[in-house]
Amino acid sequence: MRKSPPGTQETQNLIQEKEIEKEFPFSQVSEIANRESNAKRYYRPILTLHKWFARRLGSVFRSILIYASIKPLAHTKKTGGVPFWDLYLKDHSFSNMSVLDPFMGGGTTVVEALRLGYAKVIGGDLNPVAWFTVKKEIEDAEISLLQKEFDNISKNVKLDIQRYYKSQCSFCSSIADVMYHFWIKEIKCEKCQHNIPLFRSFLFAYNRKDATTQYVICPECNQLFLTDRKASCLCPKCSTSFAASDFYVKRGRYFCPSCQHTGRIVNVNKSQGKPFERLYALEFYCTECKTRGFKTANEDDLDLFKQAESEFNSLQDRLPLPQQKIPPGAKTQELLNHQITYFTDMYNKRQLLSLGRLLQAILEIADQNIREFLLITFSTALEYNNLLCEYHRKNHYVYNLFRKHAYPATLNPCENNPWGARYGTGTFKNFFKKMIKVKMYSKAPYEVYIDSSGKTTRKQMNHPIVAEVNFNSRTIDTIDNSKLVHLYCHSSTEIPLSGKSIDLVVTDPPYYDNVQYAELADFYYVWLRLGLQNSYPWFVPEYTPKDTEIVKNIKRGKSGEQYQVELTAVFQEISRVMKDDGLLIFTFHHKELDAWVKLINSLIEQKFIIKSIYPVHSEMKTSTQIRGTKSIGIDVIFVCRKQLDEVLTKEWKEVIKEAKSEINEKLSILHDTIMDLSEIDCFVLKMGVGLKFYTQYHHSIELRGENISIKDVLEIFSQD
Ligand SMILES: C[S@@+](CC[C@H](N)C(=O)[O-])C[C@H]1O[C@@H](n2cnc3c(N)ncnc32)[C@H](O)[C@@H]1O
Ligand SMILES: [Zn+2]
Ligand SMILES: [Zn+2]
Ligand SMILES: [Zn+2]
Repeated sequence: MRKSPPGTQETQNLIQEKEIEKEFPFSQVSEIANRESNAKRYYRPILTLHKWFARRLGSVFRSILIYASIKPLAHTKKTGGVPFWDLYLKDHSFSNMSVLDPFMGGGTTVVEALRLGYAKVIGGDLNPVAWFTVKKEIEDAEISLLQKEFDNISKNVKLDIQRYYKSQCSFCSSIADVMYHFWIKEIKCEKCQHNIPLFRSFLFAYNRKDATTQYVICPECNQLFLTDRKASCLCPKCSTSFAASDFYVKRGRYFCPSCQHTGRIVNVNKSQGKPFERLYALEFYCTECKTRGFKTANEDDLDLFKQAESEFNSLQDRLPLPQQKIPPGAKTQELLNHQITYFTDMYNKRQLLSLGRLLQAILEIADQNIREFLLITFSTALEYNNLLCEYHRKNHYVYNLFRKHAYPATLNPCENNPWGARYGTGTFKNFFKKMIKVKMYSKAPYEVYIDSSGKTTRKQMNHPIVAEVNFNSRTIDTIDNSKLVHLYCHSSTEIPLSGKSIDLVVTDPPYYDNVQYAELADFYYVWLRLGLQNSYPWFVPEYTPKDTEIVKNIKRGKSGEQYQVELTAVFQEISRVMKDDGLLIFTFHHKELDAWVKLINSLIEQKFIIKSIYPVHSEMKTSTQIRGTKSIGIDVIFVCRKQLDEVLTKEWKEVIKEAKSEINEKLSILHDTIMDLSEIDCFVLKMGVGLKFYTQYHHSIELRGENISIKDVLEIFSQD
């Protein structure tokens, strides 16, 4: 369908084309990607090992790697080429090719490449948390040794931790395990000094067993009780009547129930300091009567907390705890506004006591590999064991912290049981079980696909996701051993490889200002550092590197222009290390034209030409609740080559016509796969096509002397 561009005919004859330059089954890939995005853990259990932000989908990257490594297929209208699933489910061995991902993040490319038998796999990331995550994803461990060390820790610290998570069962009066403690922040009214608990509503939780009732909190005496959903609430303890939807806080302002004064919470925080936190309720599981229940916190519960506090006060100097202040940034500002100034301010003293004890026991494990596996399990559990966490009122579990790639300054925190009771999520005990499952999966991985009846099915695969890691930048270039995966931890503005040595670069650069990786990763880094700074030099600094992070972050003085300069520097390195007939493939999406302008400038400066683009379902959820006209559900895959010889020319009118027809064709195919394409999705696709045609024909526009900027061109494409 696509004509060979006239100018590059000669070079193209020398270059072995790959299937992905001609065709890519993005509709089928989107179908499996869509299913994967709704059940990531089932498709790729390996990613439960540790959080990384905005990971790409494994099914998409597996498909990219396969189609980028095979010669063009014979496409006829009748056969349509080799069926997608035959290729997708094959145990390939691309043993004559090397793959690099210079922005590996959580390791999607690295892991998928490891499963496809490449001769050499190299991944790099600036962020030590990403680096450690990928390292532990692919390193092996003996399950019995992991279990042995877990049992040891359990013997040494479990009871010490659990004794502060106990309360009397309200059904049988036995001592029950507390799964969750509920806290509310309190400030003093700036006018009348009344104590105001910062409730956004007095609905505490829905009753999962009966849709007609719900749990509420009395605004006057903080009694927790069950009441009819429809009726107004009458407190059984103090007879106050109120509506569950009443509130003392809305959009960052408090409302004083005593004098009706209203003001901004952040202003109060400035003058009053970190707000007081009051324990008001808890959820327990009683092993005697086998019942789960909520109750109002009483004197005994407060007392137990005080005991934990005083034990923490006497032990804290001996516990491994992060000492760093939270650095100012685009995402951390929210915390600083709420007077959360040290990383330890995100936890109460009982949590710090438990986490410190647990970490101390982990750091005592002699075997480094096993120690690191328990350390990463500990780090994973941190996301559910801090006072920024909230409670899911419908499903009754603690939410993870980074649902929105931000630090929320939660007013109504949920304190999880760090070790874990019989039920409850986000606990060390549960994450240990998950880690064991991950390692079992890695030893014998499966692939999930859609069978002919439309059902999701598993196929056992041959390549285990297991390798040793070489992390010595100085030897990455020279060691060739397909049993090793090479992971470097520094900026990809310097890739530790010699010129023209790589066949395939498959990556996912930072999306402008979309995710502030380094700011968020500090949450884990400050703890991981306590166990890793003596082993790896990139864990020595107090924080994750930010100056060299490629991201737009005005708060930290990083402009869009800088993003472009630094991204260009990485594309320059990619161009240097890539063979002349190599391919650079990456994914991207963004809502703003500016981000695309910066991206295209970087590509053109390094003389990359986009051969093809494909839209594909991205990692975002497609649930209609979340998806609106402004949300993004697709990524664009860019397939690029080095521009080696003369440039293409074409009438500008023709270029626009061709581009519009490609946009329409791809949109209609996508419509059949992703039902609710948003306006932004269409914009993203148009930008992708615009960039492609621009890299191919921008010289002809410039030669004709038309004074059109890249921005003008992209604006033309962004219109209908
Ligand atoms: C979009 S993410 C990659 C996500 C990855 N594909 C995944 O599925 O998890 C971009 C990554 O680039 C990294 N990064 C930012 N600046 C960098 C630099 N100068 N050198 C290397 N990596 C950098 C970030 O730390 C982040 O992990
Ligand atoms: Zn009981
Ligand atoms: Zn009351
Ligand atoms: Zn007041």
